[in-house]
Amino acid sequence: EKGGYDYFMLKEIAEQPKAVADTLLGRIDGTGSLTLDEVRIAAGVLREVDKVVIVACGTAFHAGLIAKYAIEHWTRIPCEVELASEFRYRDPILDQQTLVIAISQSGETMDTLMALRHAREQGAHVLAICNTNGSTIPRESDAVLYTHAGPEVAVASTKAFLTQLVACYLVALYLGQVRGTQWADEIRAVVRDLASIAGAVERVLETMEPVRELARSLADKNTVLFLGRHVGYPVALEGALKLKELAYMHAEGFAAGELKHGPIALIEDDLPVVVVVPSPRGRSVLHDKIVSNIQEIRARGARTIVIAEEGDEAVVPYADHLIRIPVTPTLLQPLVATVPLQVFACELATARGNEVDQPRNLAKSVTVE
Ligand code: F6R
Repeated sequence: EKGGYDYFMLKEIAEQPKAVADTLLGRIDGTGSLTLDEVRIAAGVLREVDKVVIVACGTAFHAGLIAKYAIEHWTRIPCEVELASEFRYRDPILDQQTLVIAISQSGETMDTLMALRHAREQGAHVLAICNTNGSTIPRESDAVLYTHAGPEVAVASTKAFLTQLVACYLVALYLGQVRGTQWADEIRAVVRDLASIAGAVERVLETMEPVRELARSLADKNTVLFLGRHVGYPVALEGALKLKELAYMHAEGFAAGELKHGPIALIEDDLPVVVVVPSPRGRSVLHDKIVSNIQEIRARGARTIVIAEEGDEAVVPYADHLIRIPVTPTLLQPLVATVPLQVFACELATARGNEVDQPRNLAKSVTVE
């Protein structure tokens, strides 16, 4: 049932192009418009929404952090993202004009369920993004957009994460479409780009052997740091989470701009630091700033592992290890940038003799608070 792979996690990483394509299937029509009939919240209600609040845990929370950039950019609706376990304890401000999006692979995570119950009690509309048909979270929501990742067996989430991102982009674009934002042309262009994104994920998977080799060479390290900016920041957080849960290593993700406010003190000789580099096109200011960050940490001895777009030559002099990803629009980059980090964590876990599919102390679905 592992389809020839040693672990479910490897199989699920390999299934990501299909999972992404399946999640898009039937949701974009021939003219490039989104047809999300499942989102049974009336267009009139969606037009009135004045705030989006995303609640989720763990990897799903990281998908939510990325969604915020897309939602605010394409819809200009303010969006908050909150850990479901924190949400209801601070008496959040919610009403009928709030759209709450609950993201959950299993659909059974108690923290997320309690958050959405609280939101509905306050009159908010709740949309679930979920991978499990008929599970509790979609049953208790006003509407559901299913991710079509197929069953995810490995405890560490991989293909579910990529499909959560796709679903979030679809919701963001759909909200933009319903509300007729100034970004209509960009939205159509992104919809076209989404259609080819499964192929880009496939290309990343074909080039992972050097990443596996690198991971094996780091098996006796104690700490790995991850840096990113913009949507690369949640990708860094996700890379660190995968490494914690699978390799049982100290791993932390930082926003690269925060380095000088503290974390740079951690840099010491030969410390591996993974840096997710934004595209040099588009938001090129961010790109140049992160290249300076790479220079800074390398001058202090860090071993730099750089994830950068094909054709980005500016990073070459400062990268001890360079991992190439295909050119994508800035907001979609997490779909390709996360994949090497999954492979990296999986291979490190194997090299350290850990149980990949069933990491210690963890359960696939956390049904207690
Ligand atoms: C990480 C992981 C967890 C889950 C989290 C939420 O690899 O699997 O962090 O993402 O427990 O689970 P769901 O999405 O089922 O609500």
